[in-house]
Amino acid sequence: METVMLSADERGVQTAADALRDGQLVAFPTETVYGLGADALNEQAVRAIFAAKERPCDNPLIVHIFDGSQLAPLCRVNAAARALIDAFWPGPLTLILPKTPAVPDCVTAGLASVAVRMPSHPVARALLSACKLPVAAPSANRSGRPSPTTARHVMDDLNGRIPYILDGGACDVGLESTVLDITDERAPVVLRPGGISPDMLRRVLPNVSVAGSVLRPLAEGEAAPSPGMKHKHYAPKGRMTLVCGADAQTVARAICARYDGEESACVLAFTKHLGYYGNRNVRDLGKDAEEAARRLFSLLRDMDDAGVPRIFAEGMPPEGVGLALMNRMTRAAGFDVVTV
Ligand code: TXA
Ligand code: MG
Repeated sequence: METVMLSADERGVQTAADALRDGQLVAFPTETVYGLGADALNEQAVRAIFAAKERPCDNPLIVHIFDGSQLAPLCRVNAAARALIDAFWPGPLTLILPKTPAVPDCVTAGLASVAVRMPSHPVARALLSACKLPVAAPSANRSGRPSPTTARHVMDDLNGRIPYILDGGACDVGLESTVLDITDERAPVVLRPGGISPDMLRRVLPNVSVAGSVLRPLAEGEAAPSPGMKHKHYAPKGRMTLVCGADAQTVARAICARYDGEESACVLAFTKHLGYYGNRNVRDLGKDAEEAARRLFSLLRDMDDAGVPRIFAEGMPPEGVGLALMNRMTRAAGFDVVTV
């Protein structure tokens, strides 16, 4: 199959919408990462997503909607969810809610709940509006690769496996949405941190908690809070170590000492610390957590392409978007985290 790159103009969006209505797959941009979409109510189309990505069938998908009228046929919305929807949609927040029988089991991996989200990206909105369907979409990467933040990343992973990619440029947030389990409205839990931080959620619902395994591996026998969390994630080909500490100079000294014992290593450092690394091979994470979030997956892909065998990355405080960033980086490092 030839994979066609569509520009995100009216014609491209209409071609993509027609393809979705026809049961085909379309990769499309959202404000977080690119998604690989199919008609959420068409079982055969949904199964094709798992095949194209080589995704394990026990990992459920997020259903993307254009407006609130699409919710009632999919899930039961409780009062707490309603408050979050009013505050954060459209935007990078996914809600896990009790599902209706209309949602096929292959979307939810047989769970009694369904993940729903209303993206804010104008191209995603144009597509969802034109196709008039709820669209099931995981990130548009091959399973185990970093999520794609450009149309080129999608092409690199899925060329020949899907008919269409809608090119909407680089994604704004760069990390996947915050996933909040709100099936029990008395005890909402963040399963995956993202662009909407726990503190932002707590301004609306003070009782939001964060799953304990967000920054550490699951303990022996501990149940995964979300099926996606038991699978391997975001691992670059090179071995990565994350170095954390309160003082940037101490962190840099610890990284330099380790780097100098390796051949062809690479450092991921924030802009203001680049000077600490002399003429070592350093890549710039950016000026703050937001910029690092936008760049991280692209940097990990670049280092894979360059065959970098060893990576040392600066950590940062797990606050705001920093929590999402540390969640992805600890996983990319296979939990090899050093505190100095
Ligand atoms: O930003 C995003 O969320 C992107 C864009 C494309 O919307 N999508 C995305 O999808 O990251 P995916 O499939 O890569 O991640 C969805 C996560 C997985 O960890 C999955 O296990 C979890 O959400 N999930 C989905 N449905 C669930 C459910 N019913 N209960 C618990 N976790 C669920
Ligand atoms: Mg994914």
